[in-house]
Amino acid sequence: MVRASTLLPLLASAAGIFTAEAKKIAGETRHIAGSYIVEFEDSQDSAEFFSHIGSKAETRMNLDYKLFKGASIQFKDLKTAEQEATKLNSLASVKQVWPNRVYSLPKDEVVWTGQAGGVDYIRNVKRQLGNDTFTPHVMTQVEKLRSEGVTGKGIKIGIIDSGVDYTHPALGGCFGGADCLFQFGTDIVGDDYNGDNIPVPDPDPYDGCGGHGTHVSGIIAAQANELGFTGAAPGVTLGMFRVFGCTGGAANDVLIDAYMQAFEAGSNIITASIGGSSGWSEDPWSVAVSRIVEAGVPCTVSAGNDGVVGMFYASTASNGKRVTSIASIDNEVTPLLLTESEFTVDSGDQESFGYAIGEPGEWANVSLPLYTPSFDITEAAQGCETFAADTPDLSGYIVLIRRGTCTFVQKATNAAAAGAKYVLFYNNVSPGATSPATTGVDGILGTGMVTASQGEAWVAALEAGSEISLNMLDPLTAPVSLSYEANTATGGFASSFTTWNPTFEMDIKPQLASPGGNILSTYPIPLGTYAVLSGTSMACPLVAAIFALVSNVRGTLDPATIENLLSATANPQLLNDGTATYSTLAPVMQLGAGIVQAYDAAYATTLLSKSSLAFNDTDNFVDTLNFTITNLGTEEVTYDLGSVGASTGYTFSDSIYPDPFPGVELTDEYATVALSESKVTVAAGEEVTVSVTVTPPALDASRLPVYSGYITLNGTNGDSLSLPYNGAVGSLHDTRVLDIGYLSLSSDPDFNPIGGNGSSFVLPAANSSDTDTTYPVAVVLLAFGSPQVNIKVVPANASADAEGSHIFGSPIFYASRDPYTVAWDGRLADGLLAPAGAYTLRIEALHIFGDAADPAEYDADDSVSFSIRYS
Ligand SMILES: *[C@@H]1O[C@H](CO)[C@@H](O)[C@H](O)[C@H]1NC(C)=O
Ligand SMILES: *[C@@H]1O[C@H](CO)[C@@H](O)[C@H](O)[C@H]1NC(C)=O
Ligand SMILES: *[C@@H]1O[C@H](CO)[C@@H](O)[C@H](O)[C@H]1NC(C)=O
Ligand SMILES: *[C@@H]1O[C@H](CO)[C@@H](O)[C@H](O)[C@H]1NC(C)=O
Ligand SMILES: *[C@@H]1O[C@H](CO)[C@@H](O)[C@H](O)[C@H]1NC(C)=O
Ligand SMILES: *[C@@H]1O[C@H](CO)[C@@H](O)[C@H](O)[C@H]1NC(C)=O
Ligand SMILES: *[C@@H]1O[C@H](CO)[C@@H](O)[C@H](O)[C@H]1NC(C)=O
Ligand SMILES: *[C@@H]1O[C@H](CO)[C@@H](O)[C@H](O)[C@H]1NC(C)=O
Repeated sequence: MVRASTLLPLLASAAGIFTAEAKKIAGETRHIAGSYIVEFEDSQDSAEFFSHIGSKAETRMNLDYKLFKGASIQFKDLKTAEQEATKLNSLASVKQVWPNRVYSLPKDEVVWTGQAGGVDYIRNVKRQLGNDTFTPHVMTQVEKLRSEGVTGKGIKIGIIDSGVDYTHPALGGCFGGADCLFQFGTDIVGDDYNGDNIPVPDPDPYDGCGGHGTHVSGIIAAQANELGFTGAAPGVTLGMFRVFGCTGGAANDVLIDAYMQAFEAGSNIITASIGGSSGWSEDPWSVAVSRIVEAGVPCTVSAGNDGVVGMFYASTASNGKRVTSIASIDNEVTPLLLTESEFTVDSGDQESFGYAIGEPGEWANVSLPLYTPSFDITEAAQGCETFAADTPDLSGYIVLIRRGTCTFVQKATNAAAAGAKYVLFYNNVSPGATSPATTGVDGILGTGMVTASQGEAWVAALEAGSEISLNMLDPLTAPVSLSYEANTATGGFASSFTTWNPTFEMDIKPQLASPGGNILSTYPIPLGTYAVLSGTSMACPLVAAIFALVSNVRGTLDPATIENLLSATANPQLLNDGTATYSTLAPVMQLGAGIVQAYDAAYATTLLSKSSLAFNDTDNFVDTLNFTITNLGTEEVTYDLGSVGASTGYTFSDSIYPDPFPGVELTDEYATVALSESKVTVAAGEEVTVSVTVTPPALDASRLPVYSGYITLNGTNGDSLSLPYNGAVGSLHDTRVLDIGYLSLSSDPDFNPIGGNGSSFVLPAANSSDTDTTYPVAVVLLAFGSPQVNIKVVPANASADAEGSHIFGSPIFYASRDPYTVAWDGRLADGLLAPAGAYTLRIEALHIFGDAADPAEYDADDSVSFSIRYS
């Protein structure tokens, strides 16, 4: 038994999990109260089930599909829901019952969106793109396939997302018709769906409020447009299955339904840029996606944007068996879409510059000289203080101020106090410029931002005594220019936000990586028409498109074949932590096989039988794994075999919580790899088996280091391949999973622990609509994933070895390493109210690979005692 007193230092840091900052990164695992997903036994009639639930539950969704027969239901009486759900398991017609979880819309970074002015806003853009030189395509060899005319023609890709603005001219302009890019799909939920309420389907997957799905769609198949790019596979036909309303999340039943509909509609490939922290392939949504892959349809799912949370934070459904999980690489260039205007230096020629228009943006016909309060281009807080007393009247100038430290509003207010009507900020970081908002500052008519390099050049000229005059064009008619600034810090390397794996059962994730950081694509017309976004959400659809291109060339859609080819031909990348690049390779748990190389995968004549080799942890260590090399070519090939290590990462340092990233300690102490041969010759059409024997590095097992690397194969036919592997030193089973379980109050937004015994709660007796009640809350801080978390109450006068009773909502299965809070209204798992009296909470979290029936396999913690009575 873990004693609370020994945990106080950890609690101090763990309590920080509830700060607003950390809430953004820590996953939120939320279930819909009283709602369950039920899967029926294949051979059984579901009538038994429906007659059993009778009027006790409403059917949310009928999931009557080839690969998933079941329903999602909502018990009307929340008080008895848990008990009723438990009873369902004993019905002959029921195979499995899961609580219905809600997933949030992915938190991708919006780097830039066009102004809400629609298509007309973006025109006269400089067309720099002749051949396919769109960097995400060059980085992944898509452009090489495209130059051969490979477009994904004949392939149907089903997208699960927030819907799409198919009226966008670059997305075909229509829905459903034979000439439309979007030929199939549906709206499963309706605009008003928020994840908790009942979805209201309609046949039209239009999205004018979200934007995410429109961006994803363009990455796959945008048609030629005024910005000069296309999607990677513009010849495919698309289906959109809308699972998000205008606000909130999407529940498991909706996601399963969407996948099954996409499958039955004949999608050849299904992609979803959606996820939630998990680490367990047993999650019901993962299970459903795995089945579709097993049935022959490749499924790509984004790996997640929680890189900062560190190792073992796998996201569902990407963590499903056979599901292709996609990590993100930063684009080598950052696309800049800026409104053009003109300026002169002294009596020189008219030159043009680009800026991001702010709010307000009344720039039309403004012609004024430029003034800056400081020539110091490194000053952090420029313009944050009242302007100097000798500042001229600024009403006759456009004021140039460096971005940083205080708000745009603060700076604009100070400039306005000196008379300014127009303010241009210049960026303090490279690349790019974003739209500043100074709405509400008296006297300011126009604001905007130029890039750091433009601002610094102007300041240098002003300092040299030149006069700079800006002749602002009307933003409504001014050209918009698309330019690209090289990303020298992280371009080509892992995006620092990409989620770290593996799963809690040592499954290798992610499989592949592709550009997802700073990606230009389509956006709903009402929201600006085009946007630059960053996320694994942007990396995933590109790989779905590449599956289509590779399929065109090879004539197969077999998920394993294409995944194995893409994995073998992908390029591992050097480690980069967002600021610096290291000389060792990024680990497999971050980037999988590396960045995909579409052309090499399409034409490789060597096929490996696996996409990765998992050696598991020390307890479950398999020292030797085999793979086969098949030579599909017409000539004998000799392969040189070798291996290369990637950075080993320690999960823990001085805490039971995994380290954040950056912060994960990485070393170049690799596993030793012995291969059954160092050179093999494979005759045309033949296959040869190679055995890989691993000796893990001798490292501190208590810190759970995860090692990884690649088996390399160089063929005399020119194929240069690599096969990722990983494993862990230490015991997942022996890893402590529970930090602490304690009592808190529903009225405390920070869920601080109650320090002493004896708090008392007055709970509503039944069906009370009283919202002022303060409930006792069980807080469970999981430092690591647990397959089963029990929350029980034990009468305070019970003997020390008393078992306790599950409260309503307990147990929680397949918990991620996140904080969980469960308010207790007095109900036990059987739906009945516990007698009034004194209790302690007992929190139990089962170890990974632990035996649920053995109490010794749980970490446990008791809370202080408290009493309840009913009003
Ligand atoms: C496209 O690339 C080919 C081969 O590199 C080149 O010959 C051609 O001029 C390019 N076309 C354009 C429009 O840039
Ligand atoms: C800007 O000047 C042009 C040409 O003089 C004029 O047509 C236009 O109406 C002006 N725009 C505004 C917003 O004042
Ligand atoms: C690791 O071993 C455990 C226990 O046998 C097993 O459940 C798990 O699936 C294994 N993981 C992998 C990736 O093979
Ligand atoms: C690997 O291959 C070797 C040699 O062909 C064989 O003896 C061994 O049983 C294989 N191991 C596995 C795990 O398949
Ligand atoms: C394969 O070729 C690469 C690149 O030339 C080289 O770094 C690697 O060592 C080679 N591997 C083997 C096993 O020869
Ligand atoms: C609460 O009561 C228990 C049992 O009597 C005791 O062991 C514990 O120290 C008390 N805790 C506090 C904070 O007083
Ligand atoms: C609570 O409400 C439910 C449904 O509204 C009703 O069936 C039940 O009798 C009520 N229970 C009590 C104790 O009022
Ligand atoms: C604990 O207290 C309750 C009343 O609060 C009583 O009914 C029960 O018998 C007591 N149990 C023990 C083991 O003393």
